Amino acid sequence: MTTRVLSGLALLLLSQHIAAQSGSDILQFVDPLIGTANGGHVFAGATLPFGMAKAVPDSVFDGQGGYATKGGKIKGFSHMHDSGTGGAPSLGNFPIFPQAGCPDDELNNCVFSQTDREIYVYNSTVQASPGYFSVKMVSDIKAEMTVTNHTALYRFTFPEVPLESNATLAPLILADLNDLPASRSKGSIAVDEDTGRISGSGTFNPSFGIGSYELHFCTDFSGADIRDTGVFMNNRAGNQQKSVEVVEDGINISPQILPAGAWTQFEAPSDDNQILVRVGLSFISVEKACSNAETEIPDFDFEGVYEAAVQAWTDTLGVFEIKPGDGVDPKFQKIFWSGVYRAGISPQDYTGENPLWESDEPYYDSYYCIWDSFRSIHTLLTIMDPLAQINMMRSLVEIWRQEGWLPDCRMSLCKGFTQGGSNADVILADLFVKMRDIAAEHGLDWEDTYKAVWTDAEKEPLDWAVGGRGGLHSWKNLHYIPTDDYDPYGVGPFTRSISRTVEYAYDDFCIAEMANGLGNSADAQKYSERSEYWAYVEFASNCPKTRKLTDHRNMFKPDVQSRNYTGFLQVRFLNGTWGYQDPIFCSPLLNFTSCYLNPDGHETYEGSTWLYTFFVPHDMASLIPMLGGPAAFVDRLDYFHTSGLLYIGDEQGFLPVYQYHYVGRPGKSAERVHYYIPDQFNTSSRGIPGNDDSGAMGSFVALSMMGMFPNPGQDVYFITPPFFEEVSVTNKITGKKATIRNINFDASYKDIYIQSATLNGKPYTKNWFSHSFFNDGGVLELTLGANESSWGTREQDLPPSLSTNHEMTGYSKW
Ligand SMILES: *[C@@H]1O[C@H](CO)[C@@H](O)[C@H](O)[C@H]1NC(C)=O
Ligand SMILES: *[C@@H]1O[C@H](CO)[C@@H](O)[C@H](O)[C@H]1NC(C)=O
Ligand SMILES: *[C@@H]1O[C@H](CO)[C@@H](O)[C@H](O)[C@H]1NC(C)=O
Ligand SMILES: *[C@@H]1O[C@H](CO)[C@@H](O)[C@H](O)[C@H]1NC(C)=O
Ligand SMILES: *[C@@H]1O[C@H](CO)[C@@H](O)[C@H](O)[C@H]1NC(C)=O
Ligand SMILES: *[C@@H]1O[C@H](CO)[C@@H](O)[C@H](O)[C@H]1NC(C)=O
Ligand SMILES: *[C@@H]1O[C@H](CO)[C@@H](O)[C@H](O)[C@H]1NC(C)=O
Ligand SMILES: *[C@@H]1O[C@H](CO)[C@@H](O)[C@H](O)[C@H]1NC(C)=O
Repeated sequence: MTTRVLSGLALLLLSQHIAAQSGSDILQFVDPLIGTANGGHVFAGATLPFGMAKAVPDSVFDGQGGYATKGGKIKGFSHMHDSGTGGAPSLGNFPIFPQAGCPDDELNNCVFSQTDREIYVYNSTVQASPGYFSVKMVSDIKAEMTVTNHTALYRFTFPEVPLESNATLAPLILADLNDLPASRSKGSIAVDEDTGRISGSGTFNPSFGIGSYELHFCTDFSGADIRDTGVFMNNRAGNQQKSVEVVEDGINISPQILPAGAWTQFEAPSDDNQILVRVGLSFISVEKACSNAETEIPDFDFEGVYEAAVQAWTDTLGVFEIKPGDGVDPKFQKIFWSGVYRAGISPQDYTGENPLWESDEPYYDSYYCIWDSFRSIHTLLTIMDPLAQINMMRSLVEIWRQEGWLPDCRMSLCKGFTQGGSNADVILADLFVKMRDIAAEHGLDWEDTYKAVWTDAEKEPLDWAVGGRGGLHSWKNLHYIPTDDYDPYGVGPFTRSISRTVEYAYDDFCIAEMANGLGNSADAQKYSERSEYWAYVEFASNCPKTRKLTDHRNMFKPDVQSRNYTGFLQVRFLNGTWGYQDPIFCSPLLNFTSCYLNPDGHETYEGSTWLYTFFVPHDMASLIPMLGGPAAFVDRLDYFHTSGLLYIGDEQGFLPVYQYHYVGRPGKSAERVHYYIPDQFNTSSRGIPGNDDSGAMGSFVALSMMGMFPNPGQDVYFITPPFFEEVSVTNKITGKKATIRNINFDASYKDIYIQSATLNGKPYTKNWFSHSFFNDGGVLELTLGANESSWGTREQDLPPSLSTNHEMTGYSKW
């Protein structure tokens, strides 16, 4: 919480009952510090929507996203970050660090190495808002930062008299060749003694992937005359040498963390004791880094750059309009606007900055990771910024053209680790079923896109740890991934047999949707059959299926018991016999941390068999009878949510919040949403339950609070009442406005049950709608009441499933 935000809030409190929130006032509701404590790892600094430059101080603890509330000391200010990631920190290259003067005015009494310079900040001085971050260090130096797309701009305000003993005001600003994970393998840096410019390059490792990347920077200063320049190595500095090059020294003593860098010292600043520092960035060259800086910020105009950032965020978030409704606690607006904001931080637009290939296609990076983001981020982006989403999808397809496979994760120009299936298939299909023609008009080549997803389904890469799928031979022939798979066709982690099986099934469904839409009915048939491979067919013959499956060896085992419930996915061997993993294993109740991406990662990735048994997003109509029918299904889903077995801080937890819709109980989904928000998603710095994963948690709250959660990969949004009286979205491409309005809105959230609905004035009984609502605009009116009603409960009101033939689905044609 910051004074800046507070004063804005106070003003808004006066007006919020009258006006809808849109335009510039919405940014007052964005608190970038939500999720900066307790492992949320949210990037809280200055960035543009999808911008490459991301400036923030770097905390010593919990600093994956740079600054962490309760992260202890800070060690510098760096210019590129990822947001919300778990594991090792990303980027954070070439940090700068200011000192007001050196004690006794002696150069080597200044501090240079990261460990020497770590410093506390006055925690109450932290201010964060879109495009801006500021903090005062205990050295009494105030640091402010803002950005353009490829350039960070800092404004340091120095104390009149430095706190350093016997020092006169002669600010020294250093730049370090390090990065956050200390991954540098080589680097070079130079300082220009006339201009003070510090520039250089480094080779670093990605944080969750393979290979390395090279990054370049170019730092210029404004506001004070140059006094002296030089370099440092270890904790010693000198002014004779003007450049340093570091290579791996061949001895195994962590050469990558050897402190090395350059510094420029200044006379006392001429104005307000301020020095401006402009850091241009580029993956291409130092020259490009300098020209990015000179082009984007020619005159060191801090206010101008900040205002442009505010405008960019206002334009991006301004597609949403909220009429909160009488009595709604303002914290809900803060949760909502901060959620959509966080979903706008990544993927990052590196177009023109990709040295790997020549292409006219857009290049986005930091898909970190698609396993997390496919579940709601990209659907939110399709609504919030469809052009950016189309460009991101074009970029994915271009990665396939250039590298042979779509990524499941990617950062810093490198291949990232695949966590389950080939889930780029899901986000590509999601756009296909929602904005196929519009995307084509904006450059997306659907024929190539289909070839890309087809590659995932058919060709196993030699290294399936970083693309495509492993076990494809077994998938095609056995129709499941055995725990003891025989796969001499490629290498990858032979774990996660259960979770890979259900993800491959859903990925194949998404490919089938695209094949169907493109008129390739043979492939549509083939992949829709493959999408049923999760099931145990003898049992499934009881289901209302329209198609007969041919193979009997799948993964659902009807007699597995857990907690009074029967029928779970279970481990199978190559020879068809069953193994055993306790269905609660890897839930928060048992060995929660035993299912990560390591050699003994077990059969279900970051979740339990309880969780994965619900993962049949495309055919809930088959799953429900297998779990005992609608009543038993509701009972099991309730138990899953209330027993501690489900962890909402991991993205697989999102869909089960809404799966009550498939048994005609949309009111139960609404209850569940309110069970988690605000209890698990709130306005505190610890206000998200897990890593934000590039805005995944943010997109969950944003979509949920708007009353329209997606079943990603399908043209389906589940309807629940928005948390506000009215929400609207204006489509940036078509210009059409879609509004969801609650009648009898109850700000205490007791009346959260839809009694009836109209769409554009006509009665509407389905408990879901499709994306045409956003493309074409319209008004959905929901009349609320205190109890569940018959609305949305009939067979024909339910969202589509592959095995049933609802009208409107198009699935029946297959
Ligand atoms: C700021 O918070 C940290 C905890 O992250 C604490 O250790 C430090 O003492 C605080 N700084 C000041 C100046 O109070
Ligand atoms: C930043 O890049 C985006 C494209 O990602 C572009 O639309 C926008 O105009 C750029 N902003 C500025 C201030 O140049
Ligand atoms: C300050 O500098 C003077 C002259 O260089 C020196 O005599 C004195 O000891 C210094 N004081 C401190 C506290 O270092
Ligand atoms: C299972 O059912 C029995 C009998 O209804 C009950 O006593 C027991 O508490 C249930 N166990 C769990 C874990 O719910
Ligand atoms: C099947 O394979 C498993 C694992 O190798 C083995 O324990 C089991 O005995 C085998 N069963 C048969 C019937 O071959
Ligand atoms: C489960 O966790 C316990 C302690 O946390 C550990 O000793 C045990 O090895 C774990 N079991 C498995 C199968 O990972
Ligand atoms: C806020 O959310 C966090 C993370 O989910 C949770 O631990 C905490 O209890 C919540 N705080 C409140 C006041 O609800
Ligand atoms: C709603 O349900 C409760 C019990 O669940 C009942 O007491 C009440 O009368 C119902 N209200 C209406 C309007 O039907």
